[in-house]
Amino acid sequence: MCGIVGYIGRNRAGSIMLDGLKRLEYRGYDSSGMVVSDGKGFEQIKSTGRVVNLEEALEEPQLGGNLGISHTRWATHGDVTEANAHPHTSSDGKISMVHNGVIENHANMKKFLAEKGYTFRSETDSEALCNLIAYHYNKEPKDGEKNPFLEAVRKSLRHVNGTYGIAVICSDFPKELIGARKGSPLIIGIGNGENLLASDVNAITHCTQNVVYLDDNEVVHLKNDDFSITTVSSKSVEAVIHKVDWDTSEAELGEFDNFMQKEIFEQPNSLKNGMRGRFSDDDSTAVFGGLNLNAQELRQIDRILFIACGTAWHACLVAEHLIERFARIPVEVEYASEFRYRDAPLDKNTLVIAISQSGETIDTLGALREAKRKGYRTLAINNSVGSAIARESDGGIYQHAGPEIGVASTKAFTSQIMISALLALYLGRLRDLSYGDGVEIVKALRTVPEQVEELLKQNDKIASIARKYAKYEDCLFLGRQLMFPIALEGALKLKEISYIHAEGYPAAEMKHGPIALISEDCPSVFLAASGEIFSKSLANMQEVKARKGKVICIATKGCDIPDGLVDDLILVPECHEIVKPILMSIPIQLLSYHVALERGCDVDKPRNLAKSVTVE
Ligand code: M6R
Repeated sequence: MCGIVGYIGRNRAGSIMLDGLKRLEYRGYDSSGMVVSDGKGFEQIKSTGRVVNLEEALEEPQLGGNLGISHTRWATHGDVTEANAHPHTSSDGKISMVHNGVIENHANMKKFLAEKGYTFRSETDSEALCNLIAYHYNKEPKDGEKNPFLEAVRKSLRHVNGTYGIAVICSDFPKELIGARKGSPLIIGIGNGENLLASDVNAITHCTQNVVYLDDNEVVHLKNDDFSITTVSSKSVEAVIHKVDWDTSEAELGEFDNFMQKEIFEQPNSLKNGMRGRFSDDDSTAVFGGLNLNAQELRQIDRILFIACGTAWHACLVAEHLIERFARIPVEVEYASEFRYRDAPLDKNTLVIAISQSGETIDTLGALREAKRKGYRTLAINNSVGSAIARESDGGIYQHAGPEIGVASTKAFTSQIMISALLALYLGRLRDLSYGDGVEIVKALRTVPEQVEELLKQNDKIASIARKYAKYEDCLFLGRQLMFPIALEGALKLKEISYIHAEGYPAAEMKHGPIALISEDCPSVFLAASGEIFSKSLANMQEVKARKGKVICIATKGCDIPDGLVDDLILVPECHEIVKPILMSIPIQLLSYHVALERGCDVDKPRNLAKSVTVE
């Protein structure tokens, strides 16, 4: 949730960390701070608001020093104040630390430490851990046999209930940086004469592409030229270095005004990348490299359970329709956060699939672990190579959508649907889906990038529709069958970036309650794809019109819509059933985007939100 960058090397730690924080800001943006050490002591600077405020507050000498830790915060404990911003420094001034996660037993820690004379300047849980490290450090014998700083970190972590990704420095050890993780991501960037710590690869790809993904309960001890990993209980761990093969420009804005716009317009490419190398024309099916399940094993599966949160959960609902329809396997979808603590009876031949863009969402990770603990086979559909969910699932499919920086998910959503469609095709062809039907589906999926490209040309038209509706404070999104998840996603997109109250419903459900909201002040967005129940959607639109509600209709070309029924119409190409959810998603993304811009909202950093939710 929060972003962490730590640096040790020969360069100016402050400048490098500032650059990293800017790249990480989507993880949390209510305050930020850094501590830099020049060997003589700590220089600390903090600021509330965006990282740009920190940048303005920083003075030239503070950017120097060859060691430092920094943080961009998404508040959990304590208000958004400078005192609560990280880094936190122990009351004796020896230890400074940044933290991502939640220390659940912080109250007991604080009580214990207060009795020992430690004092607290903030309301955060993190400061308790920082002082606990100082307490153990001060108690640790300094006999030269063991590193007392490292020992103190490990000892303190053994007392933590909760989650952490931390970076810590000690004023007596100006050439050492320590990091550790449990439940919150932390990676090591291996440079030439320098090493970094970060909560996300995005923060360090401008310095190095060689990374080590730290596992839970691991502690890394970094110097300029080397590093070693041990567990919290002091067992040594062999590091595996991975090469991040991202083009660093992928995480930069380029010609675009903001990341949401960039990511909406990248969809022809992200969709192409998700399909690349994944078709077998001979068998008219999809192929995947990393499922770690053979055809026989997959045929044994008689139920699939999808788990996810937010937008990814909406992608699961699409997957449910597609897999049930084309592969005839019963599918259930659960919110990861609910599944984790529910004792849901699952059939023994259930395959559990987690969908997550970041691969670090703690609710989804927790649910995946629970499914594994119960012995179920697990797969992940995920966009972040090396993420916890990717590493902990038994197999998976990478989305290859490229880094998604905008907090509101766009290209990751359509890419998750694309992967779900490929999976439906693959599972279908292992069962009853005919060769001919497979050919049709492959053809349909291959044309999606082009169709999305065409749809994006309606940007100006959708912007002008958005201007008409930006003043309303309520909105309904209505769709049936495969369009219901897209209605939910439309409502989520609109509310998270424009702060308009929006609800998604199956269109027919409107009569059972939500219709009470319809008035000239509450417009409805209908997702009315062609198909056997299109006429039913028209009837639902009539019901809205009869109550003076405005109707924005997103429909497939060729649909017969009576004159005067809709106030605004956006048409998507007529297409195969399997690709409708992707195509219908583009207008709802553009509509929400332009409404938010019209209302003067920051689309990339909506209030209260953060990308990658690593707290429960
Ligand atoms: O990284 P994940 O896909 O696991 O994230 C899940 C949700 O937190 C995420 O989709 C969230 O709902 C977005 N803000 C939606 O735009």
